[in-house]
Amino acid sequence: MTGPVTLITGGASGIGAATARRFGRRGGRVVIADRDPAAGEAVAAEVGGLFVRADVGVPADNTRAVDATVEAFGRLDNVVLNAGVPGRCGLADFTVERYRDTLRTNLDGVVYGLHACLAPLRRQRHGSIVVMASIAGLSGSPDLFYATSKHALVGLARSAAPALAAAGIRLNALCPGLADTPALAPYRRVLRERGLRLADPGAVAAAVETVLAGPGTGQVWTVQAGQPATVVPAPEVALAAE
Ligand SMILES: NC(=O)c1ccc[n+]([C@@H]2O[C@H](COP(=O)([O-])OP(=O)(O)OC[C@H]3O[C@@H](n4cnc5c(N)ncnc54)[C@H](O)[C@@H]3O)[C@@H](O)[C@H]2O)c1
Repeated sequence: MTGPVTLITGGASGIGAATARRFGRRGGRVVIADRDPAAGEAVAAEVGGLFVRADVGVPADNTRAVDATVEAFGRLDNVVLNAGVPGRCGLADFTVERYRDTLRTNLDGVVYGLHACLAPLRRQRHGSIVVMASIAGLSGSPDLFYATSKHALVGLARSAAPALAAAGIRLNALCPGLADTPALAPYRRVLRERGLRLADPGAVAAAVETVLAGPGTGQVWTVQAGQPATVVPAPEVALAAE
């Protein structure tokens, strides 16, 4: 295997596992960082990759996953900061614990993962990072703090990318629409009854590869069932006139 070395958080299931399989099939070296050891080990074995048990909400776990990748494969080319969870409350049933449970994975976990991977990527002077946002990070959603966390990832990618470009590091966000993964399994029937189409996780994985490989940085992409991955235009900021 001589293909790129790709670290995928949340790679034990759904979109992350589909991404691991896609890269593995093409001779890539894959590291799965996930808090689910049974599923993570199984996907890693399937793709001939490495599993690192990690809770992305713990900064040291992110560093350990990055260090294990570089130790095993000598470099790190792609990082997919994909681990995410649905929201556990809204404003009516709000508790600090439920709110923090969503944000610690969906936002803190991505910030810690981003910070952890920068040292080797800077040393190499190359690397491509995708943060897994959501279409809920562009529109509103009844899943209030899920949408809040995903909007934050869009802002993170757009804001952090320019400073990383000089070091040869690209950072983009991908916003998938509904995808048919275990996270959505409890809602699959009702979503289909409402006529909503679910994307195949393999199609989202293809979009991940497109975004990782493309030349752009600071971009926000969407991918939805039956549609190709496309860039979402950033709003023009009007400069104040004297
Ligand atoms: N499925 C969809 O419709 C959809 C749509 C848009 C965006 N997304 C996003 O895509 C990403 C993957 O979602 P999925 O649908 O494949 O979900 P999934 O539940 O199938 O997989 C998520 C994986 O993340 C892992 N994980 C969760 N919290 C973690 C933590 N703190 N530390 C380490 N690992 C953790 C889980 O163990 C699991 O393996 C998420 O960020 C999700 O928000 C999903």
